[in-house]
Amino acid sequence: MPLHGDNHTVTASPALRFYAHVPYCSSRCGYCDFNTYVPGEPGRGSQAQWRRAAVAEVRHARAQLGDDDRPISSVFFGGGTPTLLPVSDLASVIAAISQEFGIRQDAEVTVEANPENVTPGLLDDLLAAGVTRLSIGMQSADARVLSVLDRRHRPGGAIRAARLAELAGFQRVSLDLIYGTPGESVQSWRDTVATAIGTGVTHVSAYALKVESGTVLDRRVRHGKVPAPDDDFAAECYEIADSHFGRSGLHWYEISNWSAPGHECRHNLGYWRGDDWWGLGPGAHSHLAGTRFWNLRHPQRWIEALDSGSDPRDGSETLTADQQRTEATMLAVRLADGFDPADLVGSGSEALMGDLRGRGLVESIGHRWRLTRRGRLLADAVTLQLLDARAA
Ligand SMILES: C[S@@+](CC[C@H](N)C(=O)[O-])C[C@H]1O[C@@H](n2cnc3c(N)ncnc32)[C@H](O)[C@@H]1O
Ligand code: SF4
Repeated sequence: MPLHGDNHTVTASPALRFYAHVPYCSSRCGYCDFNTYVPGEPGRGSQAQWRRAAVAEVRHARAQLGDDDRPISSVFFGGGTPTLLPVSDLASVIAAISQEFGIRQDAEVTVEANPENVTPGLLDDLLAAGVTRLSIGMQSADARVLSVLDRRHRPGGAIRAARLAELAGFQRVSLDLIYGTPGESVQSWRDTVATAIGTGVTHVSAYALKVESGTVLDRRVRHGKVPAPDDDFAAECYEIADSHFGRSGLHWYEISNWSAPGHECRHNLGYWRGDDWWGLGPGAHSHLAGTRFWNLRHPQRWIEALDSGSDPRDGSETLTADQQRTEATMLAVRLADGFDPADLVGSGSEALMGDLRGRGLVESIGHRWRLTRRGRLLADAVTLQLLDARAA
């Protein structure tokens, strides 16, 4: 297996990453509209077929990328529920990536895990397969909130999973949280934040619950069975999270992500900084040098395409230079590294930055600027102002 160290020849090309989408869940949470299938759904494809097609897609990616010699900087198995697959399936994909591209010695390899699937045996197998980071879907420490979300695990499940991961030897464990669930109280969210911190993990993601159209939650809200999430409550939750995480040494590095220094998710940072990545699996999106493309969404169709040696791609778009700048602005604003207004807006950005600072939305960090906590709550409005100023 070719392995490459830190001192691998640096090229002008950005890092190359792999995302692998595992489209299976035991049951569907009422709020989730991700491309995932539960047992018995038609066209789901078998897990053995997923493994064969996933390995075939790695080889297909190699053929498409020709002699582009960039060993992989990170791999991320997301879903769906990757921990529903035998670890040997994930290991086959890692081995195929390693054979075809090489994996950097310092690569980050993340697997998303649902608490109810985490066992000491699974964790040992993941470590042996080369997985370096576990991202556990905790969501909440409140049984009522978990029930509104239709999660299968109990409040203690994620804490137990995080402890087991630490005992097994994982140095990088992250917890995913959701705030703003109908029925959640300020105290309940405070407890969730404190519980997450108490596990000692070095990374947390916290997202506001979004009511996605067509989901069970959407129907429940429309029929008045549960109230719609409240924006002011969500903003309060964000402030609580940011202040508690910050005080316990987990600093924001992207609007919805906090980590101990050096424990940022490098894979996701790659997305936000415009790196290249190949997304394998049904419906997965890829980005290579300003072109985006995406796979057939339905597992059976994606499997059939790869089984017959065809391209599993369903569509593509190449961003114009202007679209690329818009996207770069939207992403850069979200990062704690901040941005240079001259890059995003061009000349004449001083007045705008003065105005945003006056309203408490941005702060300067050397030559760069970044959002304050208040600015993060109003990030979309700040982004629009930056985009408008560029267009003016
Ligand atoms: C799609 S899941 C995949 C990983 C794993 N199955 C889990 O549930 O943690 C990744 C993350 O997206 C979050 N998510 C899915 N739908 C969401 C929504 N409508 N609003 C906020 N977060 C959402 C999940 O809660 C989870 O933390
Ligand atoms: S939130 Fe996670 S476990 Fe729930 S349906 Fe979505 S992907 Fe599956």
